[in-house]
Amino acid sequence: MRGFFIMNKPATDPSKQRQALRKNLRQQRKALEPNTQVEHALELEKQLCQSSLFKRSKHIAAYLAADGEIDPEFLIEKAWRSNKKIYLPILSPFNNRLYFVPYFKNSPMKLNRFNIAEPDVHPKHWLKAHQLDLILMPLVGFDKTGNRLGMGGGFYDRSLSFSLFRKKRYSPYLIGLAHELQLVDKLPHQPHDVPMIMVATEQQLHICK
Ligand SMILES: Nc1ncnc2c1ncn2[C@@H]1O[C@H](COP(=O)(O)OP(=O)(O)O)[C@@H](O)[C@H]1O
Ligand SMILES: [Mg+2]
Repeated sequence: MRGFFIMNKPATDPSKQRQALRKNLRQQRKALEPNTQVEHALELEKQLCQSSLFKRSKHIAAYLAADGEIDPEFLIEKAWRSNKKIYLPILSPFNNRLYFVPYFKNSPMKLNRFNIAEPDVHPKHWLKAHQLDLILMPLVGFDKTGNRLGMGGGFYDRSLSFSLFRKKRYSPYLIGLAHELQLVDKLPHQPHDVPMIMVATEQQLHICK
């Protein structure tokens, strides 16, 4: 009888809840009109350029937007104009961690196993996350305390796990980029989740406590 109840767990399983939330938030961001996406990308650039963290960072990782993610393209251009160096993540097929390589307008690109474009750079030139000043991270959902819901692969968590053992929030500083609609009341925190210091949206900079 007891086994019966264990096998019929109610739908409060945290991993199922996370999956359902992911599905819902991804649908919402993908439903944004192309012109709304451009407006949000422009406003995001205005918001983040006010941040002293952005102003003083020289080596900055960003990403190429996919799946309705807010697009950092104007931020990338602004960074290039300000003589900052932009990096893109490369997903290592060897250990499922992210490495980072410089990105330029004319970088040769190739598709990874998730069909995401990455600069075509030999692994001996790949940098580790701790070599950067600032990492701008895409996300599916966030809360005001800096919890991040990603696509479910845990790739940023795995690559940044070293920062969980530090007493203070040194660089690389972790800033999430999102549409305001991706803000949720509370995300359940898992021990391996690496928190963000700030989330920038088209509306505001959320400083995480
Ligand atoms: N530091 C880590 N070391 C090993 N595996 C990890 C680490 N961080 C995350 N993972 C793996 O990644 C999976 C997905 O992580 P999760 O936080 O749920 O996804 P996401 O951050 O993409 O939303 C975890 O269930 C775990 O197996
Ligand atoms: Mg996580």
